[in-house]
Amino acid sequence: MKKTLITGGAGYIGSHAAKALSALGREVVVVDSLVAGHRDFLKWGEFEEGDLGDPAFLKAVFSRHDIGEVLHFAAFIAVGESVAKPDMYYGNNVRNTLNLLDAMLEADVKRLVFSSTAAVYGEPVTEVIAEDHPLSPLSPYAWSKRMIEQMLADYGRAYGLNHVCLRYFNAAGADPDGEIGERHQPETHLIPLILHTALGLRDNITLFGTDYPTPDGTCLRDYIHVTDLASAHVKALEYLESGGASRAFNLGNGNGFSVREIVDVARAVTGCAIPVVESDRRPGDSPALVSSAQAAHEILEWQPQFGDINEIVRTAWNWHQNDMAHLK
Ligand code: UFG
Repeated sequence: MKKTLITGGAGYIGSHAAKALSALGREVVVVDSLVAGHRDFLKWGEFEEGDLGDPAFLKAVFSRHDIGEVLHFAAFIAVGESVAKPDMYYGNNVRNTLNLLDAMLEADVKRLVFSSTAAVYGEPVTEVIAEDHPLSPLSPYAWSKRMIEQMLADYGRAYGLNHVCLRYFNAAGADPDGEIGERHQPETHLIPLILHTALGLRDNITLFGTDYPTPDGTCLRDYIHVTDLASAHVKALEYLESGGASRAFNLGNGNGFSVREIVDVARAVTGCAIPVVESDRRPGDSPALVSSAQAAHEILEWQPQFGDINEIVRTAWNWHQNDMAHLK
């Protein structure tokens, strides 16, 4: 049986995908530079340490292993940083993906599942976002993902590269078994920062904007459990293996929760006060980002198992409590 290559497999979502594939008896090879990934997340499959910026390394990996398909997670992900350092994002995300595609084609590997993002849609023009919503990225990070989606479409037409772009809404939660979870350095995401506050590592959580045109004035987001994202990758691979046509799928639960609602859920889950400080809007934030994932339900036959926001925050809380040592 051919192996599945996972770039960024020592990261948050990639490690959950490695776990999901291994649980199904698939052989996995993780490629990670460990610049953002974590050595202690390498619990499944073989490991090749190296950078996608190194074509010789990639070529060697594809010659050492009999690879059947690739899940491509490796990327820089911080929206604000991408505005300050676009060269970093176009280099690491776009150029290094070209290196990966070249190595794949040379090894005659023609199936790829790509980690895209809801950020490719930009400012929503409809209440619920489906895949045919206009694409209008607002940051170099989002543009880098949009450009890669275009590259994949062009490589598909020219070289027969079959691909699925998975546009994640807000990835959240942690492995229900507590083996892996979210650990970014520095952390910028809402739920981890709220839980750091509950743990006493921060004094409060800042609400970025309380005057949005939403029911309570704070932004609405569609939080999707990382284990559900992992299962969607399995479904996407199966779809490509059964001859499915290249396309994009949204991954979300279809429910928008406000920042204040998430703080309230975290208060209930943790039993901690979690003080908030109201602040100005964070540049580039959309008031609301809520998915329609109907295509993934119907075509991939994907159904989230952790749709309950309390469950999402509870798994994250379990993880962060155990991961305290890394947070200090
Ligand atoms: N927020 C706060 N305080 C904080 C951190 C966040 O109020 O300290 C708010 C943000 O303003 C936003 C919401 O919480 O309204 C969620 O913010 P996150 O930073 O957790 O997530 P984003 O929605 O900004 O970004 C996420 C991913 C990106 C991806 C984007 C797609 O992190 O990679 O979703 O919409 F591009």
